[in-house]
Amino acid sequence: MTQQIRIGILTVSDRAHEGVYEDRGGPAVVDYFNEILLNEWEAVSRIVPDEQDLIAEALLQLANQQQCALIVTTGGTGPALRDVTPEATEAVCQKMLPGFGELMRAMSLQVVPTAILSRQTAGICGRSLIINLPGQPRAVRECMDAVMPAIPYCIDLLEGPRLETDPQHCVAFRPKKK
Ligand code: MTE
Repeated sequence: MTQQIRIGILTVSDRAHEGVYEDRGGPAVVDYFNEILLNEWEAVSRIVPDEQDLIAEALLQLANQQQCALIVTTGGTGPALRDVTPEATEAVCQKMLPGFGELMRAMSLQVVPTAILSRQTAGICGRSLIINLPGQPRAVRECMDAVMPAIPYCIDLLEGPRLETDPQHCVAFRPKKK
C-alpha cells in the first residue's frame, strides 16, 4: 500500500503569528515541493511565535499526530534574542543530523555572507525528518536545493513514504537500489 505523503511546514515568527506581516516562508516551501515532487502530497501548515515550548509542541504534533514524514521550519535560526528554532528542534529530536546544517550554510555562503549567522540544523523526531531553514523566503530554495538529493533516502531509512523527485529539478540519490 502506498503511504500518504504529508509534509509539515512550520513558520516560526512573532510577526507572522500576530498577523503584522504575511507569512511568505511557508508558501515558498509549498511552491518548492510542488515543483520538486512527482508524488501527490499534502501540506500541513502552522505558524507559531518564537517561543521554544510552542515550537516544540507544534513539531511534536506534526510528527506524532499528523504523521508528517518531513517537517520543514522557516525562521528563528539566527542569533537574535528571540531566535530559538534550533533549540526547539534539538529538544524534540532523538538524533541530530548536523550535516544538513553544515551543507546548507556552505551553499548559502556562496550567495550571502550572513549565512554563517544561521544555526539551522536537522534531526529525527520519531519517524519524521525535521529540517530548519532561515526565514528569508529566498533561503528556501537556496537551502533546499543543497539537501534535497539526500532527503528521499533519509525518509526511506525511516520507513516513510517513497518520495519521487522531478529529475529536471533534483536527482534523488539512493545508494541501494530499492
Ligand atoms: N541563508 C540563505 N540561503 N539565504 C539568506 O538570505 N539569511 C541569513 C542566514 N542564512 C540567509 C541565509 C541571515 S541574514 C540570518 S540572520 C540567518 O540566516 C538567520 O535567519 P532567521 O533568523 O530568519 O532564521
